[in-house]
Amino acid sequence: MSMRSLWATVTPMLVALLVLTTAPAAVHAQPREEATADNVFTGTLDVRMGQRVFRQQCGRCHGRDGAGGELGPDLTQGLSSASTDAGLFQIVREGIPNTQMIGISRRSTDQSVWMVVSYLNSLNDTADVDVPGSATSGQQLFAGKGNCNSCHMVNGDGGRRGPDLSRVGNRRELDELVSALRSPDEDVTPRWWTLRVTRENGSVVEGLRMNEDTFSMRLMDENEDLWSFSKSGVRSYDRVKTSTMPSVDGVLTDGEVDDLVAYLYSLRREES
Ligand code: HEC
Ligand code: HEC
Repeated sequence: MSMRSLWATVTPMLVALLVLTTAPAAVHAQPREEATADNVFTGTLDVRMGQRVFRQQCGRCHGRDGAGGELGPDLTQGLSSASTDAGLFQIVREGIPNTQMIGISRRSTDQSVWMVVSYLNSLNDTADVDVPGSATSGQQLFAGKGNCNSCHMVNGDGGRRGPDLSRVGNRRELDELVSALRSPDEDVTPRWWTLRVTRENGSVVEGLRMNEDTFSMRLMDENEDLWSFSKSGVRSYDRVKTSTMPSVDGVLTDGEVDDLVAYLYSLRREES
């Protein structure tokens, strides 16, 4: 009991979830077998809430966007363990016996579980989404006017100064793609930080931070050349936590951004 209330205090998000939930106690008290009911929590907002719960409780094993992590498998390429929503509900609620898959927190409501189920479905959704732009024009912009391929690889072709986008449509929703293009500085993971090193002779080397530990660091400059430095052997160094990617705002028209997004969204692994 005290553990639970402590947990609730340190987990404001979950508290918010509980508040949003209608009569959580009643829902919670239902026998597990009734989980075979249809999922009614399938709206866009439900998927969003499911995503939040997922990032809090599942992301450490399955990756923030469900694409797989060290401890848990990729959940975006079709799910082998369940073919129905009710089956998924069961797995999310109870976990998978004798595996590391522990399932959702005991105190989560059934409603939250259904929202997570909807989120998992959205990761595997191949149904047509209404995409405003033209993927064909977007593909031309990507290698042409947009100059995106100077930093990004798609199917083995392009630069290495940004993430490989061959399957970006599997891991990003449309609105996330739009904000990746318009506001690259939001949400830059440490993998894409920059290091700026001033050497003893005063010259500066700057590039993506490939590796860093207590004594040394490695970076890749804009020509994709790798540099290694020992920290004691340089005058100074800074980490730059903004993105090296330029925003498309003011560079591309809204129509061109739509086209690029349509192209990126089409980059996904085909279901087998
Ligand atoms: C401690 C790590 C861990 C956590 C936390 C975790 N999982 Fe898992 N999950 C796994 C592992 C490992 C498997 C593979 C189990 C097996 O061997 O079948 C798995 C399997 C699954 C599967 C079945 C995949 C398939 O192909 O059918 C689903 C669905 C799933 N997890 C969803 C979730 C959700 C949703 C959460 C959060 C509520 C979660 N997991 C939390 C480790 C974890
Ligand atoms: C100078 C190199 C550079 C250029 C040019 C560039 N990007 Fe990026 N891009 C990056 C880096 C680095 C990141 C990762 C950091 C971040 O999130 O901004 C990134 C992130 C992204 C992401 C998010 C990827 C993900 O996994 O979430 C998308 C989508 C993207 N870029 C698309 C584009 C498109 C489309 C263009 C052309 C209009 C472009 N980029 C031009 C370097 C670049």
